[in-house]
Amino acid sequence: MEDTVKFINEKTNNFKPEIGIILGSGLGEFADEYCDYAISYNEIPNFIKSTVKGHKGRLVFAEINGKNVVMMQGRNHFYEGHDISEITYPVKIMKKLGVKTLILTNAAGAVNESFHPADLMIITDHINNMGTNPLIGANDDSLGERFPDMSEVYKKSLINLAEKCAQKLGIDIQKGIYWANSGPSYETPSEINMMRMLGADAVGMSTVPEAIVGNYCGLNILGISCITNSSSSSSGDKLSHEDVIVAANKAKTKFKSLILEIINNV
Ligand code: HPA
Repeated sequence: MEDTVKFINEKTNNFKPEIGIILGSGLGEFADEYCDYAISYNEIPNFIKSTVKGHKGRLVFAEINGKNVVMMQGRNHFYEGHDISEITYPVKIMKKLGVKTLILTNAAGAVNESFHPADLMIITDHINNMGTNPLIGANDDSLGERFPDMSEVYKKSLINLAEKCAQKLGIDIQKGIYWANSGPSYETPSEINMMRMLGADAVGMSTVPEAIVGNYCGLNILGISCITNSSSSSSGDKLSHEDVIVAANKAKTKFKSLILEIINNV
C-alpha cells in the first residue's frame, strides 16, 4: 500500500481526496467531465486492470465544486477471477489517501416488482451471497478490526441526504436492499423469487465487497443502484449485458446530476 500511495501522490501532486466514488456501468462519463489527473490502473503498483466491456480502468482525481474527489472509472469484479481481497484493494488505498465518504454506484437488476428500468435506488442495506468475504485472511490492524460491526454499513445520514438531493432535483428515487451474487451468470426466475422472499429489492455482482471493506476501514458509505432490467421472473425476457448498458445509459443524465448534487452537499 505504501508503494501505491507514494506512486499516486507523485502523479497527482499530493492531491488529497475527501470523497471517493466507484462509478458503475453507464456512469463512467462522469469522470471524463471532471478530470484533473487520471492514472490508468495498469500503471499503478499493485492495482489490477478492468476487463469488462463498457468499463474504462482509470483512477481519476478532480476538484468538483470545491470538493476533492477520487473516482474509479471502471471497477474490478469477483467474477473476473480475481481474489476477492484484490478487488477491494482500491478502497483501502482511498482510505490511505484521506477519503472519508465513499459513494458506490452500480447497475442492478430489479427484484422488487414495482421497480422499472432506469429507476435509481438508494441502497439501505445489503445481503452478501457471494459465498466469500473480502476480509478473509490476516487482519491489517492499521485499517480496521478483525470482526467489524455491520449494523449501519450504508449511513442513515447519507441515505437522507441522497433522498433530499433527489427530491430537490425532482428525481423519483427508490430505496431498497441490494443482494450480491458472484455472477457472471444472471439469475434464474426461481432465484429471483427466492431473493424476493428473503427481502431483496435489487440484485447485482459488485458493490458488496467494496462496502464491507469501506465499512471496515471506517468510511461513510452511500450506495446507489441504477436499475437496468426487470427481474427475469416477471418480464420473461432474455437479458444481455448490452441491454444492461443501454438501460444504464438511459438513466445517466439523472444519475450524473444526482451524484453532483450529493457531492455539493456531503
Ligand atoms: N442481475 C445481476 N446483475 C445485474 C443485473 C441482473 O439482473 N442487471 C445488472 N446487473
